[in-house]
Amino acid sequence: MSWIRDSSLNWFHLLFVRLLRCGRVPEHVAFIMDGNRRYARKNNVEKLEGHSKGFDKLSEVLQWCLDLGIPEVTVYAFSIENFKRSEEEVNGLMELARGKFKRILLERETLNEHGVKIRVIGNLSLLPPDIRKLVAEVELITKDNNKAVLNVAFSYTAQDEMTYGTNLILNGLANDSISTEDLNLKLFSKCLYTRGSKHPELIIRTSGETRLSDFLLFQGSCSYLYFADVLWPELSAWDLLWAVFKYQHVCQTLDNMAKILQNNNTLSKKGAQFLKSINENHINELHSTVKS
Ligand code: FPP
Ligand code: MG
Repeated sequence: MSWIRDSSLNWFHLLFVRLLRCGRVPEHVAFIMDGNRRYARKNNVEKLEGHSKGFDKLSEVLQWCLDLGIPEVTVYAFSIENFKRSEEEVNGLMELARGKFKRILLERETLNEHGVKIRVIGNLSLLPPDIRKLVAEVELITKDNNKAVLNVAFSYTAQDEMTYGTNLILNGLANDSISTEDLNLKLFSKCLYTRGSKHPELIIRTSGETRLSDFLLFQGSCSYLYFADVLWPELSAWDLLWAVFKYQHVCQTLDNMAKILQNNNTLSKKGAQFLKSINENHINELHSTVKS
């Protein structure tokens, strides 16, 4: 299954999409794709078949998001905690990811035509070297696209991300690139794996679990959380449309909260320069990973 597919929305969905598009559509939606193994058990198939069905649903959901006019999506594809699963399952998930990231390289023309930027966010040092190389290549070949962004959280936890961001800042302070006066939430937010992304207005978790499981804990401080009582591979277009509809009823309140939290948070000149050098270093690291 490819990352890009034709829309599966029928005329009735599309009518609802048009109504939703008259209101505020979130600019960034994040998904905790939970329930693949329960889906496998329910349908008497192997766990990995459940994860594979999970990927098929992901590509369908991405198309629904494009139909809705949502320009950025972040998905929780593999938590650092998931490394504790059986060797067979971890290897199977890595093999699935390997195949899908290779597929992006094959589909680069289509992705570039659609203007889709893909970033893999997480602690890439924990991944097998060949996958690290693949994701670096994927990020580099799509980095200049600007119509839609897909962040794949892979080998990710929010606590690891905040540790990474804190270390960047500590290094910046140690080598005088920044001083304590330059520190604020805006600077910290841009030191996270998600970098310059707008924080998600809506986070959707499937499978009936009502937890965030260490996902986007900093970025989700003002997000509307929607918990869908279906397993990820069973998510329907109606579930997504309903979540956006519910978000539209609270978006003004969430906006006001976000404004209060971000009050007085502007980047200093030194802070902006520091971020520029971090981003340049990141691109250089990607190039050296590809060459390694
Ligand atoms: C959670 O369900 C799902 C995962 C840990 C893996 C999610 C991966 C995909 C949907 C495939 C995406 C792949 C790429 C390359 C982006 P679970 O395993 O926790 O199931 P359970 O909650 O029923 O136990
Ligand atoms: Mg689970």
